This record gives sequence, C-alpha cells and structure tokens, in this order.
Amino acid sequence: MLEVKKIIFVLVVLTTIVGVASWKTDVFDKLLSSSGSKSQPVFNKKHYSLDDPKSIWVIVNKTRQLETSSYVPGDLVQPEVSLRKGSGSSEMKLRKSAASAIEKLFAAAEKNDFKLALASGYRSYALQVQTYNSEVKAFGQKIADKESARPGYSEHQTGWAADIGPTSGKCVVLACFADTPEGKWLAANAHRFGFIIRYPKGLENIVGYAFEPWHLRYVGNDLAAEVNKSDQTLEEFFNLPFAPDYK
Ligand code: DAL
Ligand code: ZN
Repeated sequence: MLEVKKIIFVLVVLTTIVGVASWKTDVFDKLLSSSGSKSQPVFNKKHYSLDDPKSIWVIVNKTRQLETSSYVPGDLVQPEVSLRKGSGSSEMKLRKSAASAIEKLFAAAEKNDFKLALASGYRSYALQVQTYNSEVKAFGQKIADKESARPGYSEHQTGWAADIGPTSGKCVVLACFADTPEGKWLAANAHRFGFIIRYPKGLENIVGYAFEPWHLRYVGNDLAAEVNKSDQTLEEFFNLPFAPDYK
C-alpha cells in the first residue's frame, strides 16, 4: 500500500512540473509576440514587375528604357484637382490609381492651407520629344540631359509620374520649390499617399537627374512607405545598377 502511495505522489509531482513548464512556455511566447521580437513579415521586393511599363513598380531610368517606345497606359484619367494646363490636355492625365491618390494628397495639403496644382502628368512619346528638344534648344544637350529624359526614357510616359507646384505659380518646376512651405509639406507627406520624390537632392550619380523636388512618382502605399523608411532611391532599394548616364 505504501508503494502505491509513493507512485501516486511521484505522478502528482511530475504532472505539476510538466504543467508549470508548459504554462511558462506559453507566457514566454506571449511576451515575445507582444514585444515584437518574433520575426516581422518581410517586404516582398518581387511582388510586382520592375520591367513591365504597366506595373506600378516599373523602374525607368537612363539605363532602363521603356520596353515599347509607343507604350500608352490604358486607364488614363484627369484627376479632379487644380491643373496648370487646360482641362482636356492629355498631359493633365494620370493612371487611374495615381489620379485618385493625387486627389487625396491635394485635399490633405488644402487642409493645411497649401494649394497645389498638377503641372505635368502623362506625357506621350511624341510630347517627350517636344519637351526634350525644347530643353536642348534652350540650354544645350548637356544641361538638358540633367533635367529632361530622352524620349522613351521618361517616367511621365508610364502615367505614374506627376510634377507638382503651388497654384501661386511660385517656383513651379524649379529647385526653389523645395524651400517653399508647399514643397516642404510635400516632401514630408507624399509617401502617405503612395508617392515618392523620385530624384532627391545630390543623387544624380544614382538616378541620373538633378534634384527635382516637384517630380513625384506613384508606387502605391506599401512601397512608398518602405522607400521612405529606407531613405533610398528606387535603384538602391531594388539593388539595381546606378544610372548616371545613357548606355
Ligand atoms: N524630368 C524628368 C527626368 C523627365 O523628363 O522624365
Ligand atoms: Zn517630372
């Protein structure tokens, strides 16, 4: 009888030890997850194509010409915002999701008393020919190549790029826009609406162009947040070769 009691005693002790151990593991797990020590989901850099001009993540630069020079986006619409050029001009259009994002961006700016206008959106290949040629005519090819993309190499042809300026007309498409209250607000807030400043200051050796505080590129909220957090250009973020010049 004493033996039976001993066995029961040992069993009770063992059960208690196992119980306490699993409770501890449970608590430990909970602590880990609440403190965020468990691995975070990794941002999938391969989620969308970087090559397809239709892709929201397409990367166009001096070494990454648009796959088809005749490419025209299929869903261009005119956003309901202040426009620099006449309504109906194709340059005042953007891809649908970029247009809707820009309406939200401008509405948020307006709440802070910053009135913004779209200066240039989608530019066809033919319009980029005109834009680039007039830059060359005015400033010579060397300077033109720092400011304007050659036809077939412009983000504006994808319908994902938008040049933004204040409705006052001050510093529109000029570097001094960065020092205006509107320019500062835009730099700090564009990512919240899915846009990035595509050509940051002093990074011409990476992106191929001088500082363009007015040129926003729509990449969607997820990528804009990541790029903003990383403080990198698209080329760096996606480990692509730098594109200071044409091949
Ligand atoms: N200004 C930019 C680089 C363009 O022409 O696309
Ligand atoms: Zn631009």
